[in-house]
Amino acid sequence: MRVVVMSRKGGVGKSTTAIHLAGYLAGVSGGEASVLLVDTDPSRNALRVARRGRLPFRVVGEEEVDENPSLAREAQHLIVDMRGSPSAEEIEDAMRLAEVMVIPIMPSGLALDTLLQTRRDIKRLGREDRYRVLLTAVPPWPYRRGPQARAQLEEIGIPLFGTDIRRLEAFEAAADEGVLVRDLPDRRAQRAWEDYTRVGEELVEWVRSVRTPDLHAARSGGGA
Ligand SMILES: Nc1ncnc2c1ncn2[C@@H]1O[C@H](COP(=O)(O)OP(=O)(O)O)[C@@H](O)[C@H]1O
Ligand SMILES: [Mg+2]
Repeated sequence: MRVVVMSRKGGVGKSTTAIHLAGYLAGVSGGEASVLLVDTDPSRNALRVARRGRLPFRVVGEEEVDENPSLAREAQHLIVDMRGSPSAEEIEDAMRLAEVMVIPIMPSGLALDTLLQTRRDIKRLGREDRYRVLLTAVPPWPYRRGPQARAQLEEIGIPLFGTDIRRLEAFEAAADEGVLVRDLPDRRAQRAWEDYTRVGEELVEWVRSVRTPDLHAARSGGGA
C-alpha cells in the first residue's frame, strides 16, 4: 500500500506514526524488505531515528527516491513521512501518490482551521474517502481532551480512526534509541505498541475497502 502521513502542523506525531505503521506493516507482510519509509521532511527526523538504532524496515530520504525511483516502485508498502506545512501543491502531489492519507493530530493543540483547510484541499481533489485523522498523544483519564477532540471532529464530519494513540513516554524513549516502542523492555511500551497495532489493522482494512469499494459495500451491507 501507499500511505502518506501528513499534517499542516508540526510536532503532531507524523514521524512517530509513519515509523510505527511501517513497523506494523513490516511485521504483518513480507518483512523488512517489503516496507520503505520515505522521509520528505527537511529536518529528516525519521531518518535520524533510523540511524540511531535499529528499525525493521528501510528508511530513505526523498532525494534517494528521486535518484532511484525503482526503490519506491519495488516496495510492497510505501510510507511517506511528509514535512510540516506542505503547500497545496505538495498536498496535491502526495494525494496523487497515496492510496490513503493519515493525518495525526494531538488533542492538546487542536487546530481546527488548519484541518478544515486541508479538508478543502482534499475535497477539491475528490479524495474525501482517502483521509483519516488519528488522535495522538491522547492524555489518560481523567483528562477529557481526547474524548472532547473526538466529539468535536465527529460533529463536523471529519473521518477518524477508531483507535487513539495514548500519550506515553515510551514514544520519546523509542525515538531516542532508534527502535519501535515494541522493542523497549517495559510494559507501558507494549501498551504503546498495542495502539499502533490496532491502527495498523484499521489501516489495512481501510486500504482493502478503497481498493475494492463494491465488494466492501456488499460485505458490510451498506451503500457506496
Ligand atoms: N503518543 C505519544 N505520546 C507521547 N509522546 C509522543 C507521542 N507521539 C509522538 N510523541 C512525541 O512528540 C514529539 C513530536 O512527535 P513527531 O512524531 O516527531 O511529530 P512530527 O513528525 O509531526 O513533527 C516527539 O518528541 C515524539 O516522541
Ligand atoms: Mg516529523
